[in-house]
Amino acid sequence: MNDTPPVVAMRGIVKRFPGVLASDHVDFVLRRGEIHALLGENGAGKSTLMNILAGLYRADEGTIAVHGTPASFGSPRQAIEAGIGMIHQHFMLVPSQSVTENILLGLEHPRFRLRLAENERRVAELGEQFGLKVDPRAKIWQLSVGEQQRVEILKLLYRGADVLILDEPTAVLGPAETEQLFKTLRGMTAQGKSIIFISHKLNEVVSIADRVTVMRRGKVTAADVPTASTTAGELARLMVGRDVLFRVEREAQQPGPVVLSFENLSAENDRGLPALHELSLQVHAGEIVGLAGVAGNGQRELAEVATGLRRATGGRIRLNGEDITN
Ligand SMILES: Nc1ncnc2c1ncn2[C@@H]1O[C@H](COP(=O)(O)OP(=O)(O)OP(=O)(O)O)[C@@H](O)[C@H]1O
Ligand SMILES: [Mg+2]
Repeated sequence: MNDTPPVVAMRGIVKRFPGVLASDHVDFVLRRGEIHALLGENGAGKSTLMNILAGLYRADEGTIAVHGTPASFGSPRQAIEAGIGMIHQHFMLVPSQSVTENILLGLEHPRFRLRLAENERRVAELGEQFGLKVDPRAKIWQLSVGEQQRVEILKLLYRGADVLILDEPTAVLGPAETEQLFKTLRGMTAQGKSIIFISHKLNEVVSIADRVTVMRRGKVTAADVPTASTTAGELARLMVGRDVLFRVEREAQQPGPVVLSFENLSAENDRGLPALHELSLQVHAGEIVGLAGVAGNGQRELAEVATGLRRATGGRIRLNGEDITN
C-alpha cells in the first residue's frame, strides 16, 4: 500500500435528467496504471458518469479530485488539460481530412498545420510507441472502423492524456481487432496510462480489466472489485440484480413455409460502394433468423433494401412469393 492519491476520485456524484436519476450518489476511484472496467446494462448510467469526468456534463452534486486535487471541468477542453480524455461510442472525426489533420483539429495553433510534415512524424512516433498503427496521411474515409478508433486514441495521446476513457470500444470491432486493442491498452498501462473501459460484455471485462465497478440504475452495486477475485456469474448478478442463466433451454423449431426470401441481392452503401454482394437468405414462418457480424458489414443496407428505403442494384426480394424488389 502507498499513500499516493488515486489518479481520479469521484465522490457522491449525482446527475438528474428529466424523470431519471442517472447518477445516484456514485463513488468511483481510478488508480495509476490500471484498467478499470465500468460495467452495467443499458441505461445503467455508465456514459453519464464518464461524460461528467470528461467535462461534457456537469454533475448536480458531488466532487471530483484528480491526483488528490479538487477539479471541476466545464468543458472537454478543461478535462484534457487535466489529462483526461474520452473516446465516445460514436467517433467524432472529419472523413475528408487526413489522420494528422484530425488529430490537430481544435488545437488553437494554426501554425501546427503549416508544420504538417513535422506533426505527421509526431503522430507516427506516437503510433509506434503505443502500437497504434495507422498512416498519418491517410484520409479518415479510407480507414476501417478499427483504424478510426486508433486515430481517436492517438488524438488523446497527442494532447497528453494520461487517463483514457473508452466507451464500449469493442462494439465496432471484430475479434481480431478487439485482441489488438487489448494489447494496445495493456501497453499503454505499462507506460503509466490509466484506462477506464466501459462495457456490458462480461467476458471482456474479466479478460482485460484489473478492477471493475458495477452500476445498475444509476447506483454502484459493487465498487472497485479486483477481477481476479470474481467470476462472470457474480458480475452478471451484480449487473442485472438477480441470477442469470447463461444457457438457454430451447426446443427445436419446426420451420414453416418460406415467407421472405432474398435472391442474389446486391446493393450499395451511402458512399456508392458495394455493401451487399449477391446475398441469398430465406426466412421461414415461425422462426427467428439471427444476422451476426460486426457493424458496418451490410446489415443496415440489407434492412433498408428489405423495407424499401434503399434500392437494390441486383437480385430479387420476395414476400410470400410476391416480388417486392424496389
Ligand atoms: N442527455 C440526456 N438527457 C436525458 N436523459 C439522459 C441523457 N443521457 C442519458 N440519459 C438517461 O440517463 C440514464 C443513464 O444513461 P447512460 O447513457 O448513462 O447509460 P449507459 O449505462 O451508458 O447505457 P448504454 O449501455 O445504453 O450506453 C438513462 O435512463 C438515459 O436515458
Ligand atoms: Mg453508454
